[in-house]
This record gives sequence, C-alpha cells and structure tokens, in this order.
Amino acid sequence: MRHLLNTTEFSRDEVLQMIDLGRQMKKEPEKFNRRLAGKSVVTLFEKQSLRTRVTFDIGVTRLGGHAVYMDQRNGIMGQRESVKDYARNLSRWCDGIVARVYDHNTLLQLSKYGSVPVINALCNLYHPCQVLADYMTIMENYDDVTKVKLAYFGDGNNMTHSLLITGAILGSDVAIVSPKGRGPDAAIFNLAADIARKSGAKLSVTDNVADVKGYDVAYTDTWVSMGDSTPMEEAAKIFMPYQVNRKLLNDTGIKHVLHCQPAHREMEITSDIMDDENVSLIYDEAENRLHAQMAVLDTLINQEK
Ligand code: CP
Ligand code: NVA
Repeated sequence: MRHLLNTTEFSRDEVLQMIDLGRQMKKEPEKFNRRLAGKSVVTLFEKQSLRTRVTFDIGVTRLGGHAVYMDQRNGIMGQRESVKDYARNLSRWCDGIVARVYDHNTLLQLSKYGSVPVINALCNLYHPCQVLADYMTIMENYDDVTKVKLAYFGDGNNMTHSLLITGAILGSDVAIVSPKGRGPDAAIFNLAADIARKSGAKLSVTDNVADVKGYDVAYTDTWVSMGDSTPMEEAAKIFMPYQVNRKLLNDTGIKHVLHCQPAHREMEITSDIMDDENVSLIYDEAENRLHAQMAVLDTLINQEK
C-alpha cells in the first residue's frame, strides 16, 4: 500500500508521471471523470484550510467519487479515540484518507494501522500536495525543471522541507534564504541532501539574499505557521529583510514568484508583487492544487493492491 506522506515514497519518474497526469487532467478533465466512480475519500482537517479543503472535495467529485469532510470540530485525532482506531474504522468504509494534522506521527500511525492510502494534506513537517502543484506550475513555465533554480525566502517550515525534498527528487536546485537559526530542520535537510546527491540537485541554506542572484523563482510563505502563537509583528522583526518585494526581485534578477497562501500582504510579500501578473504565478499555483491532487488521488486510490 503506497501513501503520500513526505514524497520520498516516490521516484523521480513517478513524481514526473503524477505531474504529467495532473497536466492532462487540467487539459481534458472529462477523460478522467469516472476514475473514482463508486469510491469514497475521507478528508479530515485538524487545522483550518481554504485551498486544500476545497480542491480535494472538488477533485474527488470531478473524478466521479464522493468526499466526506470531517472538520476541526472533531478535534485532534487521538483525543476522543486512538489514531489506530480512527485508521481501522475509516479503512472499513472509505478508499482513501486525506488528512491535515498537527503531528506528522498521526499520519504515520494512520498509514500503519489503516488499509487504505493516506495523503498528507499538511502537517508540522511537510506539505507534499502543495509542492506537487508548485512544480507543476514551474513546469508550465519552464521546459526543463532540472535547470530551474528556486529560492525560498523566510521561515524554515513544512513548505521549506517539502520544497527541498521534491526539488532534490526532481534534480532541481533549491536555496533556502532564512535568518540565522530559522532555516530548515537539519535532519530533513540531510534527508533531502542524500536524495540530491543522486539526482544532481544543488541544495543550500544561506542568510544572505545576494547568494541567490540569478535564480529563477522566488517562493515565500507565512512567517507564522498554523499552531505557532508568535504575534506577526514579532516575527516581522526577524523576517522583514527576507520580504519578497520589488527590490528583492531587482537585486536578484528573479523573474517569477510563488506563494502557497494564505498570504499576509505587506509582510512576507508585497501586494504589488502578488498582484503583478508578469511576475506572480500564485493563482495558477492555487488552481493547480486541484489538478495535481486529482493526479495523486487517481494514482494512489487506483494503485495495484
Ligand atoms: N496552501 C494551502 O494549503 O492553503 P490552505 O491552508 O488554505 O489549505
Ligand atoms: N507554513 C504554513 C503553510 C500553510 C499552507 C502553515 O503550516 O501554516
């Protein structure tokens, strides 16, 4: 049984196949509208969501299946009953579990004790579905992903980790530009670096914006992730030098900007960049969540058992 928990479950060819399938689904959705006929997918959210919740629901419907949404009022898994029992019960009824959780271990337990594919819809450590949509968006704009250089600006978080891992799998360079002490988790960086050694991707961490001169794509995310109680004004004192704004693009020569959203305008990104259609790929990226996740659902739920 295969799952999508942190993307290391998939080879380079398999990731490329899923992105390619997503692009086909975007072009000719009607060809795929029975792929999940008769199947049900539980989408379970311990945290808030706009994009992930809506795109999974609509994605399952477009593939001919049925999505059952469990919202935050169900609380954190493991509190009312064990994650093991969540996994065993849900597996008796549905064909796949999409879960947004506080703790990555919850996903590991769901996949261990359940008997249906588990898809990580964001956890404290990773956001793999987002990054598949991100690289799909990059590949719509660049012919050769192995030549693309992406620079992530801001807090070392779940997005940072998934960009490093997926960039490494695809053989695409990723630089993390963060204040000292706020970069990625060292063990996850090392995991990505091991993969990168085989694929030829160059991964780096720096606190110096000048180090990413000549890069192609800027990526940023909130300075305060869900579950972190730091006031935004406090975070701004640390992260403001890494704001994605016109000066940063001029200084680095970067041409395109991505942001997973939700965005905090005038904090990690300025409105003039977010709204500049010559630069911002942000709403294409949000649209592609739908298509990329439909490819993930089809690949995992229709896998050979
Ligand atoms: N990018 C993303 O996952 O957005 P939501 O938190 O709204 O789902
Ligand atoms: N790092 C952010 C991503 C939101 C999609 C968070 O975890 O809140």
